[in-house]
Amino acid sequence: MGFYRRHVAPRVIDTVCSPAALSAWRGRCVEEVHGRVIEIGFGAGRNLPLYPDGVTELTAIEPSSVMRQRAQNRIDAASFPVLWGGLDGQQLDVPDDAFDYAVVTFSLCTIPDPDLAARELRRVVRDGGELRLVEHGRAPDENVARWQHRLDPIERRLADGCHLTRDPVAIVTNAGWNITNTFQRYTPGPKPWTYFTSLRAR
Ligand SMILES: C[S@@+](CC[C@H](N)C(=O)[O-])C[C@H]1O[C@@H](n2cnc3c(N)ncnc32)[C@H](O)[C@@H]1O
Repeated sequence: MGFYRRHVAPRVIDTVCSPAALSAWRGRCVEEVHGRVIEIGFGAGRNLPLYPDGVTELTAIEPSSVMRQRAQNRIDAASFPVLWGGLDGQQLDVPDDAFDYAVVTFSLCTIPDPDLAARELRRVVRDGGELRLVEHGRAPDENVARWQHRLDPIERRLADGCHLTRDPVAIVTNAGWNITNTFQRYTPGPKPWTYFTSLRAR
């Protein structure tokens, strides 16, 4: 792994993921989440301060050591235990049905095989548990989607494998989740990056 990808990209990505404008999406994503939670692509833990009191323990999956370091202050300040659970959301070293909730924000775009990750989450969340997801992805407007396809190779190189053209609803559905709630719209910013999906699935 090159210097840019290891040291520069995580800092740039974490800064891009930090605007206050994203807080509303993050807050809605973790609303009423409780019990045992797994979050893959944990990044710098930007969702952590937004989790409700009912969370009893959170298992965080994050491959980047820079991100893990940047998360440490938030982990120290959390009101529940946060455990590092591994480096790869595509292959979770945890038993079946171990969690009440899985949370993913802006990470299915980057995980190399998002279908595999969504299936792994299906395996480790108990029946009756829930997936909460916020993601950017392929826009419904053909003009924007064309730009997303053009920009995708550059985005992947500069942003640690991030794709602009993935369809989070299809990924989640194909993994066997039953979507119960979807909210999709452009959020302020350049359109190829800002068609957001927030969903809940059982
Ligand atoms: C755009 S960042 C989002 C971080 C965080 N979820 C947020 O909302 O700010 C994508 C994250 O996915 C992580 N990631 C990349 N490959 C992964 C994998 N195979 N398993 C789990 N996380 C991965 C990256 O290291 C990065 O922290």
